[in-house]
Amino acid sequence: AIERTFSILKPDATRRNLTGAINERFEKAGLRIVAQKRIHMTEAQAGKFYEVHKERPFYGELVKFMTSGPVVVQVLEGENAVLKNREIMGATNPANADAGTIRKDFAESIEANSVHGSDSLENAAIEIAYFFAGCEIVG
Ligand code: CMP
Repeated sequence: AIERTFSILKPDATRRNLTGAINERFEKAGLRIVAQKRIHMTEAQAGKFYEVHKERPFYGELVKFMTSGPVVVQVLEGENAVLKNREIMGATNPANADAGTIRKDFAESIEANSVHGSDSLENAAIEIAYFFAGCEIVG
């Protein structure tokens, strides 16, 4: 089925001018960028977005990193978009990511891992609504 998933190009990606190279991966795989904006997240915004990780030891550093520079938030649309995007991104830890994935090729570390992608269709809808109004998504 045609799905929408939520994606973030993280501060390590914007800092190294990799947004075009990463977007090319999405488009080559058949995912369409149907919404996109560059923002600098506040601590409150990042803290709430990653609330599920609140009890994890890396939460504080994660929020600090995600607010350390601009990010690009996106909605990707396509066949099986949630799973497809996870395949294109590769494993969270670049050390475990398959060859040819975004994280294998671009990520600096498990924290500065260049991209975020929704882990389920249900979370995709929640995450998209957190950053985008319906009128900002143009399919
Ligand atoms: P993301 O998909 O954005 O979701 C949570 C993020 O926490 C994850 O990608 C990683 O960048 C970051 N993170 C930092 N340390 C860890 C860790 N030890 N385990 C999992 N995620 C981590």
